[in-house]
Amino acid sequence: MDGFSQSEIRQIAEFVRKIAKASNVDAVISEAFITLKDIAKIDRVRIVYSPSPSKWTEWKADKHGIEVRPHDEWPSPEKKSVTVPFDPENGHCGFISTDHKGNKVRPALEIIAPEVWSALLLQSALARVQRAALSETELVRANLRARDEERRHIARELHDDLGQSLVSLKLTLKYAEDLARPRLRMPAVAKELAAAREDVGVMLDKIRDLSHTLYPRVLDSLGLVPAMRELAHQAARHSRVAVECTTRGKPRRLGKDIDIALYRCCQEAISNAIRHAEASDVVIRIEFARNEVRVAVEDNGKGFDPRNLYDSNSRMMSSGFWTIRQRMADIGAAFRVSTAEGRGTAIEMIVPYSSRKVHDRRKNKTTSRG
Ligand SMILES: Nc1ncnc2c1ncn2[C@@H]1O[C@H](COP(=O)(O)OP(=O)(O)O)[C@@H](O)[C@H]1O
Ligand SMILES: [Mg+2]
Repeated sequence: MDGFSQSEIRQIAEFVRKIAKASNVDAVISEAFITLKDIAKIDRVRIVYSPSPSKWTEWKADKHGIEVRPHDEWPSPEKKSVTVPFDPENGHCGFISTDHKGNKVRPALEIIAPEVWSALLLQSALARVQRAALSETELVRANLRARDEERRHIARELHDDLGQSLVSLKLTLKYAEDLARPRLRMPAVAKELAAAREDVGVMLDKIRDLSHTLYPRVLDSLGLVPAMRELAHQAARHSRVAVECTTRGKPRRLGKDIDIALYRCCQEAISNAIRHAEASDVVIRIEFARNEVRVAVEDNGKGFDPRNLYDSNSRMMSSGFWTIRQRMADIGAAFRVSTAEGRGTAIEMIVPYSSRKVHDRRKNKTTSRG
């Protein structure tokens, strides 16, 4: 570091520490400008960087301030300037240049340039990781929405199409049975027809149940509370667990996305309580508070160690809870699991009434961008 005083060297070291911790690209650039000014009195600087192929960003500092400009073509350094490329093998990666002259100018740029370049590369890599994570979440959400839509469609087909056909088959069988019994003295035929009619009735019940499990239409027509009551009733009917649904506060309509998300999460939580908990009682509590709706599913079963839900990178790996978390994130809601071995489990979901608007705003933003 020839030509630099002890305090300037300290300043350069401080600069390196700061940009390694910088939270964004602009922070890196502005630290570079400050340091160049302090150690070599350089206040007219261009920094050009290519964050991706055929794209360049230029930051230009002079006594008026800093100007940022994107370029689609290589913004080459000025002829008479002192220029230090980030990568001597590939000048188009970017550079730092200035039209200042003086002994310290080139050494200062040569010390700063590689540090700035590594910090910018790090920022680009971080941005890429963040974008990838974001698009993965978007993908998961789109997937869940598509699945809901498909289930709704199949449920409707089952209920309306197949269901109606079975209803008319049942009526036809009844008609045939009535004809067969008294007039033609064919009791055996009438008996067969009655049995067939009963079978069709059982099929019809199964189809209605299946259709309801796939998509509870009551959610669309009457809203969350009746749908949850129905869910509790169905769950109790199909298991040995007593499932109860209680509500507090004045019910509000929450919107289709929130209704379906809460419904599906409760469905998962209840099914967990029935399948894993060895519980005798499950309670769904719905509370319409002033600013939010709170929905909890509590069981009195054996509980579990929630650490088992995560892998060694603290990523949630169990699929049921993972889906609950994604659904809650999608509607801007909070989600909490309280459990301990031998002490039951409570799943709690909190949806602020305003979350719907937040959600819509975010959706609009994404659409307008894409
Ligand atoms: N209510 C509960 N009581 C006891 N254990 C539970 C309960 N809910 C979940 N678990 C445990 O957590 C695990 C993960 O649950 P989940 O994510 O829903 O996945 P899955 O139900 O497919 O196993 C379960 O396998 C079970 O061991
Ligand atoms: Mg589960």
